[in-house]
Amino acid sequence: MHNVAITGTGVFTPSQVITNDELVAAFNDYADLWNAENAAAIAAGEVEAKPHSSSDFIVAASGIERRYVLDKAGVLDPTRMFPKLEKRPDDAPGYMAEIGVDAAQKALAEAGVDAADVDLVICAASNMERAYPAIAVEIQQLLGAGGFAFDMNVACSSATFGIQTAADMIRAGSIRRALVINPEICSAHLEWRDRDCHFIFGDVATATLLERDEDLKGPHFKVLSTRCATQFSNNIRNNNGYLRRTQDAMEDSRDMQFMQNGRKVFKEVLPLVSAHIADHMAEENIAPQDLRRLWLHQANKTMNDYIGKKVLGRAPSPDEQPNILQDYANTSSAGSIIAFSKHSSDLAAGDKGLICSFGAGYSVGSVIVERA
Ligand code: COA
Repeated sequence: MHNVAITGTGVFTPSQVITNDELVAAFNDYADLWNAENAAAIAAGEVEAKPHSSSDFIVAASGIERRYVLDKAGVLDPTRMFPKLEKRPDDAPGYMAEIGVDAAQKALAEAGVDAADVDLVICAASNMERAYPAIAVEIQQLLGAGGFAFDMNVACSSATFGIQTAADMIRAGSIRRALVINPEICSAHLEWRDRDCHFIFGDVATATLLERDEDLKGPHFKVLSTRCATQFSNNIRNNNGYLRRTQDAMEDSRDMQFMQNGRKVFKEVLPLVSAHIADHMAEENIAPQDLRRLWLHQANKTMNDYIGKKVLGRAPSPDEQPNILQDYANTSSAGSIIAFSKHSSDLAAGDKGLICSFGAGYSVGSVIVERA
């Protein structure tokens, strides 16, 4: 068995930002238009008027202040309410591959590793731009990486599940280096017309380079242990699958986008994640005081505050548990990796930390690392 280390991470951040105020203004314009178009049915009591959204609610309920997106104009057009991305020819790089390659090149540069020396590329994300060929194989070719590549989807936990998959192959000796890449174009599956969730997601791509921990010269993080778990739930769901045509259900409908029962998710995921982390730490003989930092999934500030307190037995400081969700919103699988990438270089040799992502499935994955 070989040991594994994370030697580089990279984040691609889109150039366009939507603030809560901009988002709420567009949503309220959309609601007013919809209410005017449906005035008769609303007056007759057949449908309910759409209420306005509010920036204050969004910050209080989630901690989110803004989000990055690939296309701001389409999202903020009250007659459209979703991004507009030009269709690309089949021989041009796809959107997921393009942003994934950007993040991957940053991770490779940080580690000083050539793409040609990578022998596994995993594209791990909540949604895939197409069914096949795998996005990961396209990324492998664009990077000039060797070996093999495949896609995997474990929703918001895709990054940590990808890290465990790659780490297991490095431990077993079948590969030496792997890139786990998380291109998340969440703006394309968020329902921007639904007040209950229109503020939740943003776009980003992250990449993590894992290598055999042997003769490593630069600073890196030893992967001490990984742990994954799943438990079926319909409380976060998307029905936009390939069988829709067979069901004569190709028209735009609500269940083609992200759906959730947010309150239930809150109630059920918190104990699941807290117990998962506690079990993982106990298994590895790691006490709360041994943890220098937690890099949690970035969905909701209150959820993170709760989990951090459960894990440490006291409220963690922002330095012990940095959040990035105020700037990026929920970026699905990429969130904990953005937090790790932006808030880890200050750790001293021997410091230990825990990366944890969780979400639809339900799924939860944790990675315990040590700075070296
Ligand atoms: N603006 C103003 N008011 C709003 C609103 C908005 N955008 N959206 C909802 N409200 C109202 C609701 O109608 C409700 O009003 P009522 O009390 O009169 O019925 C009230 O605010 C509370 O709504 P609720 O949906 O219960 O809020 P919440 O406190 O549960 O927060 C979430 C909503 C989505 C932020 C929260 O449930 C959450 O983060 N859940 C987990 C999300 C998660 O991790 N998902 C995983 C995704 S991968």
